[in-house]
Amino acid sequence: MDIFEKITALAKRRGFVYPGSEIYGGLAGTWDYGPLGVELKRNLKEEFWKFSVKSRDNIVGIDAAIIMNPKVWEASGHLASFSDPLVECKKCHHRFRADQLEDASKCPDCGGEFTEPKQFNLMVETYLGVVEGEKTKTYLRGEITQGVHVNFKNIISSTRVKLPFGVAQVGKAFRNEITPGGFTFRSREFEQMEIQFYVKPDEEESMKWFEYWKEERKKWYLSLGMREENLQFKKHDQLAHYARAAYDIEYNAGGEWKEMEGIHHRGDWDVKQHEAYSKQDMTYFDEETKERYLPWTIETSGGVDRAALFFLMDAYREEKVGEDERVVLKLHPKLAPYKAAVFPLLANKPQLVEYARKIYGDLKNEWMVAWDERGNIGKRYRAQDEAGTPFCITVDFDSLEKDDVTIRDRDLMTQERVKVTDIHKFIAEKMK
Ligand code: GAP
Repeated sequence: MDIFEKITALAKRRGFVYPGSEIYGGLAGTWDYGPLGVELKRNLKEEFWKFSVKSRDNIVGIDAAIIMNPKVWEASGHLASFSDPLVECKKCHHRFRADQLEDASKCPDCGGEFTEPKQFNLMVETYLGVVEGEKTKTYLRGEITQGVHVNFKNIISSTRVKLPFGVAQVGKAFRNEITPGGFTFRSREFEQMEIQFYVKPDEEESMKWFEYWKEERKKWYLSLGMREENLQFKKHDQLAHYARAAYDIEYNAGGEWKEMEGIHHRGDWDVKQHEAYSKQDMTYFDEETKERYLPWTIETSGGVDRAALFFLMDAYREEKVGEDERVVLKLHPKLAPYKAAVFPLLANKPQLVEYARKIYGDLKNEWMVAWDERGNIGKRYRAQDEAGTPFCITVDFDSLEKDDVTIRDRDLMTQERVKVTDIHKFIAEKMK
């Protein structure tokens, strides 16, 4: 099994991610996050928000609508050029992305001949309105970005931000991907986390910010435990006509480098296009120089689902433990769905259960914590290892006498006795 298959199986087994609409045979390119997956994603998004908005004075947040006026997509260029080249096999009629075929001379499914590549637009159409025939055609956003740019003027007039400043956003995007695949890697519905950072239209200053954000974003992945040897920057050889620079942060997914996040210098393309199409003034008035200009944008655009997938891959280990093998997710405690699991040593001893329930209840006031009283302790450890839970807290008979518990460390598999009054501090320390 390759790493994608292993993660897909583990994700389903433990409740991280299920195939979308599975009981109806599924829907290609859609995924449902289960009880553990939703926590992992929430933790990721919360860490992104802390990194971008909470810890900085020069970034504000926004949550724009998914469905926008269709003119937005005309202006941004998505209707004209947001497309992939598609070929169809003349024999079996299967369709493929021309740029992803290893051998473009014949169909990999039946060996048939291909049609000439055709551009296939990725925007997902939808219709609004009540009366059939009078409905307006619009789109589910193909990127979250434009919701920020169309609000550029609203943000400067309703807040005290001054250039350089950024706007962060996290939210769903939709693309009619021709070949969804690689588990959640290429989905038709996914989430993005972005910063649009507006700077003065100045070559030197804007490139300084570009380099700054490129490094900051890589550091963010490292700070959450991703292994440095699995990350690299990849320079875009071909730039969009308006772009001044672009890099991807790539992750080494089982020996293949895959895009996880893009850092783009977009010049004034977006605001300029919206100014032209909306006929609204999008300029910024610089109080210092008394000049009016269109700002340039440095964009950091990451996929929440891709990051979740790559954090899972990065954390995944198969280890020998004596005669046994264990699968463990060594997720950073900040990302782990459950920060701890609490067990009474024996489920049929009410004193142990009651004592453990109290600890569980206290910890749950602050963190997601799991409860398990099934099977033996070894089995419970294995289940929590696969869930990525960093600490397992066991209440035994000594606990009743001494008011302490055993805390077992997921990665080291060591155990230590900790006073009940110190459990909270113990976990909080490891969360730093
Ligand atoms: N606003 C710029 C933008 O959307 P992008 O390179 O098309 O740029 C940014 O997308 C990120 O969004 C990607 O690096 C990836 O992490 C994520 N992403 C894009 N398409 C995706 C898909 N079909 N499924 C999952 N994630 C996707």
